[in-house]
Amino acid sequence: MGSTFRQDLLADKVALVTGGGSGICKGIAAAYVAHGANVGIVGRKAERLEAAAAELSALGPGRAFALPGDVRDFAAMERVVDTLLERAGALHIVVNGAAGNFLCPAARLSSNGFRTVLDIDAVGTFNVSRVAFDKALHRGGCIINISATLHYGATLMQIHAASAKAAVDATTRGMALEWGPAGVRVNAIAPGPIADTEGMTRLMPPGQLERANRAIPLRRFGRIDEIAEVALFLASDAASLVTGLVVVADGGASLPTGMSLGLSGDG
Ligand code: COA
Ligand code: NAP
Repeated sequence: MGSTFRQDLLADKVALVTGGGSGICKGIAAAYVAHGANVGIVGRKAERLEAAAAELSALGPGRAFALPGDVRDFAAMERVVDTLLERAGALHIVVNGAAGNFLCPAARLSSNGFRTVLDIDAVGTFNVSRVAFDKALHRGGCIINISATLHYGATLMQIHAASAKAAVDATTRGMALEWGPAGVRVNAIAPGPIADTEGMTRLMPPGQLERANRAIPLRRFGRIDEIAEVALFLASDAASLVTGLVVVADGGASLPTGMSLGLSGDG
């Protein structure tokens, strides 16, 4: 899909995208590179990350750097940000997209399973943001957290991820409040179901695709490039007054509607 935005939208900007080696956040990193930014991508699997960085750099005009590390490890994130600052000379935009999830009913979820997902999504988002603020963003910039809509109501087999994303939303608002005076905007994107992603593969029960599509007002899942467009907007000067916001991009899937009573949305 072609971009809605000017090609030099992020010229001279440097971004750090956790989870940028795959899925939605690789799409965001690709959009940033294609709009002129240099982008560090973070994940645990160094080989996949190197391959993704080469692929993204080939898109140009920006470059991508593979920065392996686990977002749960604060010291590792300090090394990641130091390396990006050495290689790219600055840091203006942070996208916290690293996450873990699986389907599991609460009664079968172990304490470590619950903690692991909170650690990756919520503590990881804190770690990377805190390090980035300390080392660069205190001079201004923006943070975009990748959230979800799981916690707006209640979602079966998702108490771990729903709790983690609720914490991510609270962190988004709190950091927006505390870091606004330093010129840092902090926002989140809450995607609905996005086609061709690991998240969808893991969470969509087999045989449920068509039913799930029908329950969405726009009658389709989102695409990775549609989330990347929202991430371009939030990183750009067009969003210069926008902070503390969670942008829901889900085709209306999380709207509380009469459809939950079994009424058809057609006509
Ligand atoms: N159902 C129930 N519990 C599960 C589980 C599942 N499918 N997968 C992992 N767990 C539990 C483990 O049993 C373990 O708990 P225990 O020590 O009590 O047994 C705990 O979660 C940690 O598992 P581990 O495999 O050691 O964690 P990890 O840090 O290596 O990996 C995960 C993290 C589990 C989230 C892994 O799925 C992952 O790396 N995901 C990244 C990709 C992803 O999830 N993408 C979708 C994003 S929406
Ligand atoms: P994905 O491809 O599995 O992305 C998750 C990424 O996070 C991977 O690149 C993974 O790389 C990285 N990661 C996981 N644990 C990490 C850790 N401890 N440290 C560093 N990196 C880690 O899944 P996705 O579906 O595109 O999801 C991307 C984001 O969108 C997530 O925040 C997810 O919650 C959110 N989201 C997705 C959907 C959807 O429909 N897919 C809907 C709502 C929200 P490594 O394995 O190499 O570490």
